[in-house]
Amino acid sequence: MNAPAPRKILVTSALPYANGSLHLGHLLEMVQTDIWVRFQKSRGHECHYVCADDAHGTAIMLTAESLGITPEEQIKRIQEEHERDAAGFLIGFDNFHSTHSEENRRWCEEIYGRLQANDHIASRDITQAFDPEKQLFLADRYIKGTCPKCKTPDQYGDNCEACGATYSPTELIDPVSALSGAKPVEKQSTHYFFTLPAFTDMLSDWLASEELQPQVANKLREWVDGGLQEWDISRDAPYFGFEIPGAPGKYFYVWLDAPIGYMASFQQYCDRVGLDFAPWWQEGSDAELYHFIGKDIINFHGLFWPAMLQSAGLRLPTAIYAHGFLMVNGTKMSKSRGTFIKGSTYLEHLDPEYLRYYFAAKLSGSVDDIDLNLEDFVQRVNSDVVGKVVNIASRCAGFLRKGFDNTLSPACAEAALVQEFIDAGDGIAALFEAREFNKAIREIVALADRANQYIDERKPWVLAKEEGREQEVLDACSVGINLFRVLMTYLAPVLPAMAEKAEAFLGLSLQWTDLQGPLLNHKINKFKPLLTRVETEKVEAMVEASRESAPAAAKPKAEPTPKAEEESSTIAFEDFAKVDLRVARIAAADHVEGADKLLCLKLDLGDEQKQVFAGIKAAYQPEDLVGRLTVMVANLAPRKMRFGVSEGMVLAAGPGGEDIFLLQPDSGAEPGMQVK
Ligand code: MSP
Ligand code: ZN
Repeated sequence: MNAPAPRKILVTSALPYANGSLHLGHLLEMVQTDIWVRFQKSRGHECHYVCADDAHGTAIMLTAESLGITPEEQIKRIQEEHERDAAGFLIGFDNFHSTHSEENRRWCEEIYGRLQANDHIASRDITQAFDPEKQLFLADRYIKGTCPKCKTPDQYGDNCEACGATYSPTELIDPVSALSGAKPVEKQSTHYFFTLPAFTDMLSDWLASEELQPQVANKLREWVDGGLQEWDISRDAPYFGFEIPGAPGKYFYVWLDAPIGYMASFQQYCDRVGLDFAPWWQEGSDAELYHFIGKDIINFHGLFWPAMLQSAGLRLPTAIYAHGFLMVNGTKMSKSRGTFIKGSTYLEHLDPEYLRYYFAAKLSGSVDDIDLNLEDFVQRVNSDVVGKVVNIASRCAGFLRKGFDNTLSPACAEAALVQEFIDAGDGIAALFEAREFNKAIREIVALADRANQYIDERKPWVLAKEEGREQEVLDACSVGINLFRVLMTYLAPVLPAMAEKAEAFLGLSLQWTDLQGPLLNHKINKFKPLLTRVETEKVEAMVEASRESAPAAAKPKAEPTPKAEEESSTIAFEDFAKVDLRVARIAAADHVEGADKLLCLKLDLGDEQKQVFAGIKAAYQPEDLVGRLTVMVANLAPRKMRFGVSEGMVLAAGPGGEDIFLLQPDSGAEPGMQVK
């Protein structure tokens, strides 16, 4: 047996934001990493897997504010939830920490100090959009307005969902703060920058490494060749994060302290278990360091992070391993379709190992997106795991218990076949190592087919009924159990709970390094079901539980999230039909004290009057509106606003700003008239 030399391997998954629940996309990454780590451990290597919550930033601060709790409470709640959900999917973190921790503060200050000492920190004043109401600088995604190209209103930050144009938020027509609705003003402040261009040569060398995936290296090369920019690493108060030493009121940008969180989590782990931290992170370390990440955060891990480490005199990552995004049924996860599935929702309905297996069967070493097709999911898990792998053991176990006191034969009747299965291990290991899990699974399933074929040929269920053929029954079933043991060893990184049950059944531990030859004269235990079939009804129930029904009328747009997972979805005709559109005469229009967008309208529907706040002040003087007709949503649930209750919505069309069109009084419409 060619025992590989033990390696020292430190592995991370990207730190999930402490801003929301884990969904199946996050779990794709954690499952990928966890399988790889469990594989390394099974091969006898010293491998540690650390992660943490990414706890800092404006989004988390605002979420806490909207919930009426402190950011500290918010991140504590979420960390408990994240740890519980990850454990539910059998993610075997050796340590899970938070970036809002003393270890992280210490390492941030240490590393920043080194960057400063090396002249890699610059500072200068910049001008940014500022929300005068919230007293907050506004990142692009917190500014919305009308697209300068196609004039679609209500577009966020720096790109238009309607026409795809990209622009700077200052080009937006009639920009407003997405947080308060106030008009942003320009304001200056001092910012700190990491001098990334100084690392152009170093990064060129680094990304020539063979360890990088070709697609990742190409992407990085594009950025480097396009010319690197200095990286703004500071944010102004109020900000939830670490204050920059020597710069009161300035905070480290969340993306500066997030990757340092990998070190902080490992530091906490070392302190807890008594491991020496330094050899893993010092320059020239013989340990390997891998970051598993999604394709959306390659620049942070492939440019800023290695450059920072280099300046700080620390080791660089051996590689970053990027994966694609999770699709469900061929499209982006969607709340209205019920395919935006939270980890906890999945776990209420289905066994985590179904998903672990399916992800493994789909994952490769590339950054291509992965599709969770729910029909295929049911079929694949039932056919491969239950129908093929579990079947091998369940077909043999009964005969061994009834006739042979649960003891395998003293000699192996098919030593060559068992050896062939063991010999396949090197090829399968190479595939796991290269994160070609889909190919590894294909080989394992092909072996399972061979094992079943062997049992089919021997037909122990027929032999068992015939006189004097006990030895053949024992031989066949012992071979079957041996083949099952080898296959379960290969599958253990993917199916750790099933492997644990198999270990109890087989009476041994399933370590890759223990596969030396067949088990002889070996006592096994009572067979208990290892995994039950996936039920389609449960998958459907999970989708139903994840579905957010589209509300009949527009609800106020939720706070923008840094990553919009949700596609813009259409509404069904039934939903549209619920909207009661009526012509209304504007009976009165008044300014609203303290609101710079809104007018308060009294709308006459013929038989009743309604009060509506409408954001059309830029377009109309109140006095010009009186007597004009508009179309209103008459059955919108009343909404309490800061200025009073709004009992509907007026519909307006046009490019926005000063050009919003209402109906003219002479259009022939009558108040109260239904519009459709
Ligand atoms: N906090 C940062 C990472 C900091 S690492 C120093 C972040 N957080 S995240 O919660 O948005 O994403 C965490 C990881 O999950 C990222 O690697 C991201 O690519 C991955 N995924 C988030 N949504 C995903 C899918 N829909 N599909 C697959 N992976 C996805 O980014
Ligand atoms: Zn546009």
